[in-house]
Amino acid sequence: MDTWMLSALPDAPARVLDAGCGAGALAAALIARGHDVTAIDLDPSAARAAGVPAREADLTVYEDDPFDVIVLSLSLHHMHPLEAALDRTAALLRPGGRLVVDEFAWDWADAAAATWFYDVGRLLGRFDRPEPDPLARWRAAHVDHSPAGDMLDAVAARFEVVRMRRVPYLFRYLGGEHAARLKEIEEVRHQPTGFRLTAVTRVTGVTNGT
Ligand SMILES: C[S@@+](CC[C@H](N)C(=O)[O-])C[C@H]1O[C@@H](n2cnc3c(N)ncnc32)[C@H](O)[C@@H]1O
Repeated sequence: MDTWMLSALPDAPARVLDAGCGAGALAAALIARGHDVTAIDLDPSAARAAGVPAREADLTVYEDDPFDVIVLSLSLHHMHPLEAALDRTAALLRPGGRLVVDEFAWDWADAAAATWFYDVGRLLGRFDRPEPDPLARWRAAHVDHSPAGDMLDAVAARFEVVRMRRVPYLFRYLGGEHAARLKEIEEVRHQPTGFRLTAVTRVTGVTNGT
């Protein structure tokens, strides 16, 4: 868990939903910090293999008791329908509860970023041939993922966004031992392809009509 995620979370113990937990690394870190974590995924097998008691569940239809915090870490762009995922997120958060989103903004990558991504990926052995049209390949690879603007609009329609910043992301995708150096280069050379935000449930005032 990095410093941003730490700063985005309340002190333990909080009741936390990690929706789309994947291999369970974040859920395991949250449990280790003393949070009461429910981890869900369409396919919880990788998380379970890592020792996280993840449930097989689809956030778009998930029902449970209210949570203090819901974390969507690199999962929201995969969730369809996007609106249903965020409707359930809003319904599952207690009043005043916190939404933490760490996301990939694939559609913010331009031709220069896509070219850099495939060139560096090839150097790292991730891709085996030069890419003649990097941006076309990039777009084709991500066409079934929600664009960042749709995610941000759908969050803002349901929550008060407290903090939002655009961040580099490609270095995380490329990973490996050079990730820290790649992050420095990406920050200087390319526009952000990720965003991180915290938001809270809207507090709706009750009026008596007078
Ligand atoms: C890229 S992985 C992210 C995993 C992890 N949260 C992380 O930060 O590395 C996205 C995960 O979201 C899950 N997912 C996609 N749609 C989902 C849905 N509707 N409900 C629950 N999980 C979903 C996928 O199965 C996948 O494991």
